[in-house]
Amino acid sequence: MRLPDDLVDALGNVSSVGVITGAGVSAESGIQTYRGQGGIYDDEAEGDATVEALSAATLRADPGRTWRVVSELARRAVDAAPNAAHEAIVLLEQSLPRFVLLTQNVDGLHRLAGSRNVIDIHGDVLDTRCLACDERGRFTPAEVRALRNTPRCQACDGILRPDAVLFGEMLPEEKILRLHHELLEDVPDLVIVAGTTAIFPYIVQPVLEAAGRGRLTVEVNPEPTQLSEHVRWSLRGKAGDLLPLIANVVAEA
Ligand code: APR
Repeated sequence: MRLPDDLVDALGNVSSVGVITGAGVSAESGIQTYRGQGGIYDDEAEGDATVEALSAATLRADPGRTWRVVSELARRAVDAAPNAAHEAIVLLEQSLPRFVLLTQNVDGLHRLAGSRNVIDIHGDVLDTRCLACDERGRFTPAEVRALRNTPRCQACDGILRPDAVLFGEMLPEEKILRLHHELLEDVPDLVIVAGTTAIFPYIVQPVLEAAGRGRLTVEVNPEPTQLSEHVRWSLRGKAGDLLPLIANVVAEA
């Protein structure tokens, strides 16, 4: 697998990069994606029920149902390890004076791999918040594996919720502000979007903004998405194969 020659040439002059990731970047760590082939939402029997379980309305009405799905997502996260895609993104951060990572993933693998400037816009599936007293917490992997029903707050015995964005909820204000500042106002020289179906406007907009300003834009995905016709290079392939190629060119420049 090779990168296009004009992309290799262009990568030599980059001094800032924004990376935007979705579930496809964790696919090679063995974590199922949400949509597309084998996606958890596309499961014939359970797909729609899973989406419903991950909604704010269900958390309020039947927190145990939400926790049955969230604890399974959390178990997959703690049983997974970062893959070459996560490591390539760390190399990009170490190689350039300015880097920002906007991830939709809640599996924590980017931070585990060593990424530092991370906007985890949907939160982290191991983080918790008490519905009664707002106490914040974080499960250990052992606590995740021991989860059997709705977890309770150690401070007040109230019901805990995952500190992750559920369907029907607003995104955290401070993360939206960071996204605006680092990806929409101070647009990086290079924006890479990898492993996402790009269905949310806050994911699409930074890529379109960069393309509109003539920045380098690269998509990495085995499948086409609605962004494919808007980026300068839409590379068909796996994040674990292509992101290391890109990171190595940048690191050696
Ligand atoms: N490398 C790169 N991309 C891949 C790989 C891979 N090895 N395997 C699959 N993909 C691509 C798929 O082609 C698809 O475009 O990853 C994408 C996964 O899409 P989704 O499952 O929709 O995940 P994502 O885009 O992150 O979903 C966004 O939706 O339900 C919410 O909160 C959830 O964060 C999630 C958000």
